[in-house]
Amino acid sequence: MSINTTDPRAELKRKAAIEAADMVKDGMVVGLGSGSTSAFMIEELGRRWAEGLRFCAIPTSERSAEQARSHGIKLVTFATHPQIDIDIDGADEVERGTLNLIKGLGGALFREKIVAAASRRFVVVVDDSKLVDRLGAAVPVPVEVANFGWTSTARQLEALGAKVVQRLDRSGNVFVTDGGNMILDCHFGEIADSPALQRQLDGVVGVIETGLFIGRTSEVIVATADGLQRLRAA
Ligand code: A5P
Repeated sequence: MSINTTDPRAELKRKAAIEAADMVKDGMVVGLGSGSTSAFMIEELGRRWAEGLRFCAIPTSERSAEQARSHGIKLVTFATHPQIDIDIDGADEVERGTLNLIKGLGGALFREKIVAAASRRFVVVVDDSKLVDRLGAAVPVPVEVANFGWTSTARQLEALGAKVVQRLDRSGNVFVTDGGNMILDCHFGEIADSPALQRQLDGVVGVIETGLFIGRTSEVIVATADGLQRLRAA
C-alpha cells in the first residue's frame, strides 16, 4: 500500500489513524484493518512497536499482514486468540446516526467482517468525506460471491434492485479476493433500510458476505479540516 502524504485527504486519514492507534495498549489482541487509512494505522503501530509497545494482531488481508510483518508486529490466528480486544479499520461510507457502514471497495470485506464480529470494540477511522446521511448513494455495496454459478447469483441480486457489476482488477482481469472468490459491486442507490437489505442479501444463495456492516461499530474517529471528531454508537 503506497501512502500518499501530499494529498489533503490522505493527511486527514493519517490523523484519524494515529488517534486510533493510540487506543492500542500493551498485551492487547488487535484487528488490523485494510485499505489506505488502515495502512497509516499499521504504520503508526509499527513505529510504536519499535518503541517497545507489545501486542499481537490478526490482519484482515494479506496486504495488511505483509505490512505488519515488515514492522515485526506479532501476528496470530483465531485458533489461539479467538477474542480480539480492538479492531481498527477504515470504511467507504459511514451513516450518521446509525454508524452503519459500507466497506469492501478494497476487496477485504469478508475477513474484515469476521475480525469485526470477533472484536470487543470495533473502531472505524475515516476522513469526513465518508460521512453520509444514507448509505449507498455514492458507492455500491460490494458482495463477495462464490465463483460457481455467479451469473445466477448476480440475477438474484438484480431481482433485489441492484445494478450488478463484476469487479475487475487494474489489468482488466476478474478481481480475486484473498479467499479466492469474486466481488459483485451492487449499485442500489440510496438505501432506505440497510438492515433489511442485509437480511435479503444474506438470503441469496451464492453470497458469501456483503460489505454492509450493520450494528457493529463501537466508535468512529472522523478527521476533518477543523480537527478530530469521535462518534459513538447510540
Ligand atoms: C477494504 O476492503 C475496505 O473495506 C476499506 O476499509 C475501505 O475501502 C476504506 O478504504 P480507504 O481507507 O482506502 O479509504
